[in-house]
Amino acid sequence: MTTAKFITLEGMDGAGKSTHIPTIIAALLARGHEVVSTREPGGTALGERLRELLLHENMHAETETLLMFAARREHIAAVIAPALARGAYVLSDRFTDATFAYQSGAKGVSAAKVELLEQWVQGDLQPDLTLLFDVPVEVSIQRLLAARSPDKFEREDAAFFTRIRQAYLQRAQQNPARFRIIDGSKSLDEVKNSVEEIISKL
Ligand code: TYD
Repeated sequence: MTTAKFITLEGMDGAGKSTHIPTIIAALLARGHEVVSTREPGGTALGERLRELLLHENMHAETETLLMFAARREHIAAVIAPALARGAYVLSDRFTDATFAYQSGAKGVSAAKVELLEQWVQGDLQPDLTLLFDVPVEVSIQRLLAARSPDKFEREDAAFFTRIRQAYLQRAQQNPARFRIIDGSKSLDEVKNSVEEIISKL
């Protein structure tokens, strides 16, 4: 038995992670836990304002990285740390692995700089469990084409998404105890079953 309390969801745009949030919340609530469901960038009033800028304004990749961590600092202080301290589960739709995948892996910000900010902003705080929804790049792009109006990240090309996928898979390989990779190209029911099985083993 593990005591995973801080759970994060990751994956490329179009990998389907957000679809399964209600399933995860329901599974945790059924076990009698308090659940705080949140997202990044965002999760606080300030963070949501930063999200608007991050998703729609063009900026230097390092500016983007710094703003992601500014939003994250606020998110940890105001939401994540207090929830974990009172024994709640925290489910965050994206966290620092996304910065490693998007700003570092895809946009070329040095991983050492991201690690420096990670250490500064998070100290010892790391997710206990990260569900990585993995799909081939073509699947992700097809899904995005069928979806609502794209934000700035969703308008990037296949090469950009390929770098994101590779960076995520590398993070998973480097942190096998924390990551579970879910094949997001399977049917909704199959993915739901995989997610429920992982949560049932917590
Ligand atoms: P996303 O989580 O996919 O939300 P939605 O389902 O509403 O589109 O959108 C957030 C975007 O922000 C996504 O494209 C990834 C990007 N992002 C980063 O580039 N770096 C980060 O550190 C985080 C948290 C997100």
